[in-house]
Amino acid sequence: MRKTILITGASSGLGAGMAREFAAMGRNLALCARRMDRLEALREELLGINPAIQVAIRSLDVNDYPAITQVFEGFCEDLGELDRIVINAGVGKGQPLGTGRFDANRQTAETNFVGALAQMEAAMTILRRQNHGHLVTVSSVTAVRGMPGNVTTYGATKAGLSSLTEGLRVELRKKKSPIKVTTLLPGYIRTELNEKVKNTPFIVDAKTGCKAMVRAMEKEPARAYVPGWPWTPIAWVMGKLPEAALAKIF
Ligand SMILES: NC(=O)c1ccc[n+]([C@@H]2O[C@H](COP(=O)([O-])OP(=O)(O)OC[C@H]3O[C@@H](n4cnc5c(N)ncnc54)[C@H](OP(=O)(O)O)[C@@H]3O)[C@@H](O)[C@H]2O)c1
Repeated sequence: MRKTILITGASSGLGAGMAREFAAMGRNLALCARRMDRLEALREELLGINPAIQVAIRSLDVNDYPAITQVFEGFCEDLGELDRIVINAGVGKGQPLGTGRFDANRQTAETNFVGALAQMEAAMTILRRQNHGHLVTVSSVTAVRGMPGNVTTYGATKAGLSSLTEGLRVELRKKKSPIKVTTLLPGYIRTELNEKVKNTPFIVDAKTGCKAMVRAMEKEPARAYVPGWPWTPIAWVMGKLPEAALAKIF
């Protein structure tokens, strides 16, 4: 059982929701994000759900790369070994290419890809040292194909993250390492990230989505679309569609 779990981007949405599920399961939690007031309120809530667990919180901006190592190592000092590290922090601020919003696309690319790479670097330093543990990255169904408009840059960051995670998994398999690596690819789950997005087919509420994410993660597969229904078959179909069909649907 993965007793102690670090989650980045835990101040809202899926990160906070997964923390609630793990608290109810009796897991110790290491939670970080930029908004400390949110993390403090969440810690109180989690200890209310389960007073027997330990909850450590630390402030972290994942675009501050040296701080990632300091915060992750700080959590090891707080809680001992980390059994699972969930790289979840992300933004969805992309805008169509060539519309004067390079700032938004760059912020999305830096946070979701370079920030995730830096988190993977810090996480793998710890997991290699421990020689055990489970690394989970939160990608997206939008990673499956190139997406138009506001989702172009976001989807590309998630495709990059999926590829990084797969490459790491193959390397660890080759070395017969006991460290496990999972890519989670959520469909639409209602959070602050998509509260202004109009076209969100098959969207589920955060509790339903987070339960599905935790259930999938506990099985430690190579990759999982969440919720599995309907996103596993949708992702399969998306992978086969000609671009003309993608242009009609998305
Ligand atoms: N909701 C969906 O439908 C969906 C679908 C597929 C994938 N995802 C992915 O799931 C992850 C969580 O998203 P969400 O839906 O839960 O959105 P959310 O409610 O907006 O949460 C995003 C989290 O990321 C943190 N974050 C953002 N920028 C950060 C930074 N620079 N440094 C540290 N933390 C940062 C935020 O914390 P602070 O602002 O406090 O720092 C917040 O806790 C993201 O990677 C997203 O791409 C979501």
